[in-house]
Amino acid sequence: MTSFSSQVLLVTGGCGFIGSNFVRYWLSQHPQSRVVVYDKLTYAGRKENLADLWSDPRLKLVVGDIGDQALVRSTCQAEGIDLIVNFAAETHVDQSILGPLVFTDTNVRGTHVLLEVARELGIRLHHISTDEVYGHIPDLHQSVETDELAPRSPYAASKAAADQLVQAYAITYGIPVTITRGANNVGPYQYPEKAVPLFSTNAILGEPLPVYGDGQQMRDYAHVYDHCTGIEAVLLRGKIGEVYNVGTGREMTNLEMVDIVLETLGKSHDLVRHVTDRPGHDRRYSMNVDKLRALGWQPKYDPRQAVAEAAKWYEGNREWWEPIRSGQFREYYNAQYAERLAGSKQ
Ligand code: NAD
Ligand code: TYD
Repeated sequence: MTSFSSQVLLVTGGCGFIGSNFVRYWLSQHPQSRVVVYDKLTYAGRKENLADLWSDPRLKLVVGDIGDQALVRSTCQAEGIDLIVNFAAETHVDQSILGPLVFTDTNVRGTHVLLEVARELGIRLHHISTDEVYGHIPDLHQSVETDELAPRSPYAASKAAADQLVQAYAITYGIPVTITRGANNVGPYQYPEKAVPLFSTNAILGEPLPVYGDGQQMRDYAHVYDHCTGIEAVLLRGKIGEVYNVGTGREMTNLEMVDIVLETLGKSHDLVRHVTDRPGHDRRYSMNVDKLRALGWQPKYDPRQAVAEAAKWYEGNREWWEPIRSGQFREYYNAQYAERLAGSKQ
């Protein structure tokens, strides 16, 4: 291992889905490293995602907004941060359609503030971007890192703006940055607004599964573990200034994903409801991941296994998601689905 093993990381958004999986993975692989989680604890940020680790002296939590430049700066200085890994974001496309402005605040301005602090203090920054920045991908093409960005939702546009700011800072100021663009992740601790945990928890509860439109949209459902190992590969062996796609390189339709969830949980297909589509719904995401593979990385899970493993996790961890589903999530669920489900077809 390189000298990274003893470095101090500021992991923004470390209480969210991918961030918490990354923190757990990183500390397990790099015993000499320390991690400071910097998180605003929005509805999606949950301290309990790292419940087993808070007593570890190598881990610390700072509650704050990435847009708070003074707090980001003083935290980096006080903790001796060597590397910022930026997971912090508003992350759900449907939420970005209902209330888009906070996406610009956090995803664009927040990332910009991190870049300013990184520039001022001379810290490397790794930014977590997404395949959604490429927009809808026509059949047969697979996005490569040099493709133009063509985002189509408020979420994707805010992530594309952040992605380009990171690249602009590397060009203009020469600061050391890397970027990974992840596919649709699934696995433990994903907030149940996203499709796989929503469908898994609805199926377990015997509630209908609201499939948008014809369900023929295609996604690369990648296990969060493979995203974490992909980020690690880029941190340890990636070239400064470069962008790397992270996914399985294989996609499936949403109806295929639903079948895997129902089959894994032993539930009936009668639960499926086709509901009014998402406005501007991207039909297909698909990425070429050869550049990351060239660093010696390969995914452990294929997309079928990833979805099945995720569904099983929700079956075995009701105590994690039941309080979420019975809390403020209900309000969002009703706003998003009540009318859609009332007018749905099987
Ligand atoms: P998540 O919604 O589960 O977690 C986001 C975390 O960021 C939460 O802990 C939240 O409290 C925190 N946060 C939000 N606003 C903040 C702010 N202003 N300041 C500090 N913290 C703030 O998200 P996730 O699914 O874990 O996604 C993490 C990152 O990975 C995001 O940047 C997202 O765009 C990217 N990504 C996600 C996926 C996916 O499938 N989930 C795929 C590719 C890329
Ligand atoms: P999602 O998990 O929201 O990820 P993204 O939109 O960022 O890809 O959705 C994954 C796919 O599932 C996407 O094509 C939208 C679809 N979907 C539904 O059909 N119904 C739902 O209730 C949700 C949340 C998503």
